[in-house]
Amino acid sequence: MSTIETLNNALDVFIENSRGPRPPNSHETQHWEMSGIHSALMNGLISIYEQAPSVPKSKQRDFVCYALQWVYALHEHHEYEERTYYPMFSPKLDTSFVTEEHATFTGGIETLEEYLVSCLPSRTKYGHGKVTGRQEPQKFDGNRVCSLIDGFVNEFTAHMLREITYLEPAKLHAAGLEADELKHIEIVTDKHIASMPGATFLTYVYLVSPKKDSEFPPAPAIVKNFLVPFVFYWPNRKLWKFAPKQ
Ligand SMILES: [Fe+2]
Repeated sequence: MSTIETLNNALDVFIENSRGPRPPNSHETQHWEMSGIHSALMNGLISIYEQAPSVPKSKQRDFVCYALQWVYALHEHHEYEERTYYPMFSPKLDTSFVTEEHATFTGGIETLEEYLVSCLPSRTKYGHGKVTGRQEPQKFDGNRVCSLIDGFVNEFTAHMLREITYLEPAKLHAAGLEADELKHIEIVTDKHIASMPGATFLTYVYLVSPKKDSEFPPAPAIVKNFLVPFVFYWPNRKLWKFAPKQ
């Protein structure tokens, strides 16, 4: 299967599992929400893979910074899972798999990140508040970006698909997790997301989320309809030109 087929097949699964609004039933919420963020991350990676080989020279720097937003959104997602999110399910739900599964593709993502950063001029802002040091930028090669993605796509996609099965409502019930415990996880996660930077992470996740049949991300209307499109969007607007068309 080609990389793009692998990514699109996974995206279909995540879209299917994050339809409609966030479910009010606590045992369904986590599965819907994890499917929603995986949908966004899959869609973001597809947009990089499809555009990389044909980015005009004058837009390559913006594209590299756009692609690095994916890298940092993914780092952020996995760091939160390992540090805070999955420990909240423990000990009722065995979550020891998470770090091991992330390790199967982390090296590939780091290689992509290093290559992308090496294509930026000195003192360029990228990611979530990072700035490049003094460096002579490498020539950008979009085909190289695609081949680096080819290198981790199978392990990455397999993990993302497997992970949502761990959060299926029946499995949360079987693990003995109560509604109030799951509500607590939801509140902590909502607070964490609300604390993330608006002009990078929040705008990125909003823009790459497939919105046709889903209300993910479940942010208040003022954030989705006003702050993101009219305030947070502007500082990095050149990057968002590469976001998937809805
Ligand atoms: Fe995840």
